[in-house]
Amino acid sequence: AQVPVNVTVTGAAGQIGYALLFRIASGQLLGPDTPVKLRLLEIPQAVKAAEGTAMELDDCAFPLLKGIDIFDDARQAFDGVNIALLVGARPRTKGMERGDLLEANGGIFKPQGEAINAGAADDVRVLVVGNPANTNALIAQAHAPDVPAERFTAMTRLDHNRALTQLAKKLGVDVTEIKKMTIWGNHSATQYPDIFHAEVNGTTGAKAVNDEAWVRDEFIPTVAKRGAAIIEARGASSAASAANAAIDHVYDWVNGTPEGDWTSAAIPSDGSYGVPEGLISSFPVVSRGGRWEIVPDLEIDAFSRERIDASVQELSEEREAVRKLGLL
Ligand code: NAI
Repeated sequence: AQVPVNVTVTGAAGQIGYALLFRIASGQLLGPDTPVKLRLLEIPQAVKAAEGTAMELDDCAFPLLKGIDIFDDARQAFDGVNIALLVGARPRTKGMERGDLLEANGGIFKPQGEAINAGAADDVRVLVVGNPANTNALIAQAHAPDVPAERFTAMTRLDHNRALTQLAKKLGVDVTEIKKMTIWGNHSATQYPDIFHAEVNGTTGAKAVNDEAWVRDEFIPTVAKRGAAIIEARGASSAASAANAAIDHVYDWVNGTPEGDWTSAAIPSDGSYGVPEGLISSFPVVSRGGRWEIVPDLEIDAFSRERIDASVQELSEEREAVRKLGLL
């Protein structure tokens, strides 16, 4: 029998955690042949709630689930981890400045990076979901010098999936007919969903739409502000769709992206497309042999350049801010 893969989920008692854990345990994260052990990390006040979720996981009798352990200590939670899903984060509360937010999250992601460095398995892969996801990933990475830098990623797959559906609806096509969607930059309102390289039935997304005003004034803001629209409608932030995107990200990372398509993920820049080296920025990516690769040599026109640069500028400023806080 195969050795179970250790999956650590932080913020396990939160709303994304509740939507995520059952899908991991049912085999959707790694595939139907891979048994998993769950290691849940929570703050002490939420351990009891995590225990309740673990009781429900037990009650599903998932054939692939080989164990659940719950911790309030990062060192223990990340011991032997193969897949780390960093979901728990400090949300922005009223009156909180960006600097305060980055500092509060530094207090979470620095020790978690250290714990990953100390105890993770050699093949560890890290996905940061908790916001500000790109910069939280950068902080964790900085404190895990023994782990290859490329193993630290942040999630823009939800933005990618949102963009696919918005474009499919506009064109009246099925989402499966759209390939090569791209999200560039930061997982924030400055992100740039790019349909100039997307393919739809033999043409590009932009040509199929043939309406630059729609792209500029409807599509881009709808995708970039979708999180706020969900909060407005649901009275709570995206949870099941965020969990779904985390599943998609890790599944593709481990199993490879389909031939003839690519996806979006925030990964450490190698300097491609003018993104300063080391920033964890969203790119068009394929996964081959268990590694993300940036899709090379795409032509970037002035419209796209301006938007990529603006989002990357925000990432550079966040990096500068956490440097000043001594978090890098
Ligand atoms: P939530 O507030 O329901 O749950 C967060 C959980 O994290 C809580 O149970 C809390 O106790 C726990 N937590 C806090 N600090 C922790 C620590 N140091 N260690 C372990 N656990 C800790 O929040 P929700 O809705 O589950 O969202 C989680 C994060 O995901 C938020 O930061 C949210 O902004 C982000 N998010 C990111 C998306 C993306 O596309 N990248 C999409 C949607 C949400």
